[in-house]
Amino acid sequence: MSNKLILGTVQFGLAYGVNNSAGQVTVEQSSAILEHAYTNGVTSLDTASSYGNSELVIGNYLGKNPGKNFNIITKFSNQVDCGSSLESSLQKLRSDKISSILFHSFSHYAENKHALDFFIRKYKDVNVATIGVSVYTNEELEQLAQDDRINVVQLPFNILDNHVLRSEAVLELKSRGKTIHTRSAFLQGLIFMDDEKIPVKLSPLKEPLNLIKQLCDEHRLDIGHLALQYVLQKDYIDGVLIGVDSVTQLKQNLKWSEITIQQEVFRTIDTILIEDLNLLNPSTW
Ligand SMILES: NC(=O)c1ccc[n+]([C@@H]2O[C@H](COP(=O)([O-])OP(=O)(O)OC[C@H]3O[C@@H](n4cnc5c(N)ncnc54)[C@H](OP(=O)(O)O)[C@@H]3O)[C@@H](O)[C@H]2O)c1
Repeated sequence: MSNKLILGTVQFGLAYGVNNSAGQVTVEQSSAILEHAYTNGVTSLDTASSYGNSELVIGNYLGKNPGKNFNIITKFSNQVDCGSSLESSLQKLRSDKISSILFHSFSHYAENKHALDFFIRKYKDVNVATIGVSVYTNEELEQLAQDDRINVVQLPFNILDNHVLRSEAVLELKSRGKTIHTRSAFLQGLIFMDDEKIPVKLSPLKEPLNLIKQLCDEHRLDIGHLALQYVLQKDYIDGVLIGVDSVTQLKQNLKWSEITIQQEVFRTIDTILIEDLNLLNPSTW
């Protein structure tokens, strides 16, 4: 299962996460996480020009470890044109090729799609294997199905933002040959938070999370294990991004990624529906 895992690296460049008390991961910790990931078969990374110094931290590691051939996914900057954004990322990553470059949002894709043909002619076969878009909503997923130049779509998908809400739109994209990557498997760490620490504006999520915690107790499962397998076990998902703040968390997640869970448990999760979808969109938290 772990070959579906993609290591998210916003944590290397910014103090990130709803449950983060330790701040930004240090350069030394980031290198240790990259080392452990690569050695254990997690050879794809997700980064972005807007993740603070994440690309530089990765480039610094790759400079010292030239044999580590990670597949790197990065994202266009909103501020500059697509070509110079790519060139800046390649420089920071100390690489001449990446596996994918994504528009960081649907609106950035919509504003720049007129320039895609030029970008593809100039850069695609030389520096970039595939082009994608990172999205939040199903409406955005539906619109991307129509664009053959887009190869990869990244979306949130987890035990709350789930199969019932997402699968139809995702299956349509799959039928058009697109690769599906998901993020937010742990809702930025929210699923691990004690009830009393959950921010007030997210308090409507306490009840559904408690139902899931009860389910975990009944089946003697860790909630992180359930959350990870819920996503990994979906055949229509090709890659699952996870963020970690330490080698310890990565080791735990790798263990969880090896042990599958009965589908029956997932069917119970799919009966839990969140009405206010804003609660599932970390960009509005
Ligand atoms: N395209 C986009 O718009 C976009 C947006 C956001 C993120 N991303 C990408 O997705 C990656 C993952 O971010 P995400 O938001 O999806 O995060 P996530 O994977 O849902 O949650 C990651 C957080 O969960 C906690 N965690 C992870 N493993 C744990 C364990 N075993 N035990 C306890 N806590 C654990 C850690 O936070 P604490 O320890 O701090 O609690 C960690 O930072 C990012 O690195 C980034 O590359 C992309």
